[in-house]
Amino acid sequence: ASTLGASAAEKGRYFGAAVAANHLGESQYATVLNREFNSVTPENEMKWDATEPSRGTFNYANADRIVNHAISQGMKVRGHALAWHSQQPGWAQSLSGSTLRSAMLNHVTQVATYYRGKIHSWDVVNEAFADGSSGARRDSNLQRTGNDWIEAAFRAARAADPGAKLCYNDYNTDDANAAKTRAVYAMVQDFKARGVPIDCVGFQSHFNGQSPVPGNYQQNLAQFAALGVDVQITELDIEGSGTAQANSYRSVVNACLAVSRCTGITVWGIPDHYSWRSGGTPLLFNSSYAKKPAYDAVLTALNSG
Ligand code: G3I
Repeated sequence: ASTLGASAAEKGRYFGAAVAANHLGESQYATVLNREFNSVTPENEMKWDATEPSRGTFNYANADRIVNHAISQGMKVRGHALAWHSQQPGWAQSLSGSTLRSAMLNHVTQVATYYRGKIHSWDVVNEAFADGSSGARRDSNLQRTGNDWIEAAFRAARAADPGAKLCYNDYNTDDANAAKTRAVYAMVQDFKARGVPIDCVGFQSHFNGQSPVPGNYQQNLAQFAALGVDVQITELDIEGSGTAQANSYRSVVNACLAVSRCTGITVWGIPDHYSWRSGGTPLLFNSSYAKKPAYDAVLTALNSG
């Protein structure tokens, strides 16, 4: 097929993009989004600070703009993210202990209930493990409510929206042997063994010169899939340009296609100038919305085999 979404669909997968509500009215942005992608992830609009700016008062206006756009275009929606140490509203940052635990669980329940039936996959918990060699949980106000906060969030999400796939999502978990990867693997294995509801693991896959696509990336996706969860590439971007960038994107797409439970790929933005990496060029379209060599490599990979 001639677009990313249609080509991925032929392989039984989706191809998505992170979207910002405030760009939906821009004609070039909407044209490329609607033509190329069949899944969206709100880049910021579903986060705790956006959806519950004061305790118990919910604001879905910007998230709804994206969800309604997706529904009108027949696109899937990845919900991002219900529980995270970052982008918490100020009121939550100042809570702790059982008060924070109940506020977090209420947040998960309220947001997942509001969007029940409309979300393909939820990032229920985002970035809960520490970087480096410790394999420990990340220290955060949520972690300090008790080590079981992650499974509590997953159980609340399942109760609120039984039809959504529930994902754990993180970065620097792409190398099969890294301590952080091993720690997330052990958590997923434990959740599956104890019946904690988890359906998928998201690999953000933010790559650059310091953090290139690992040689064992496909093996890593496969080892998680073997635990009985889907795997998704959730925030893909790769710093660089030209052939080198194209080759890296190709290897990521080929890795997903080689793992039957890798159900979709999402790039973290559409044109380079809207990337969170300010000044970077990590995406598939340049700032004039022209297709880059990386785009051609991705499209060719999706259509081969
Ligand atoms: O909306 C306000 C605007 O009103 C204000 O004037 C402006 C001034 O700084 O800030 C705007 O908010 C910014 C927001 O993006 C929307 O543009 C925040 O400052 C900025 O911190 C925020 O950055 C987002 C970042 O997450 C925050 O953690 C990025 O857009 C978003 O791409 C990035 O996404 C994360 C994923 O959620 C999790 N994984 C890593 C990924 C990349 O960092």
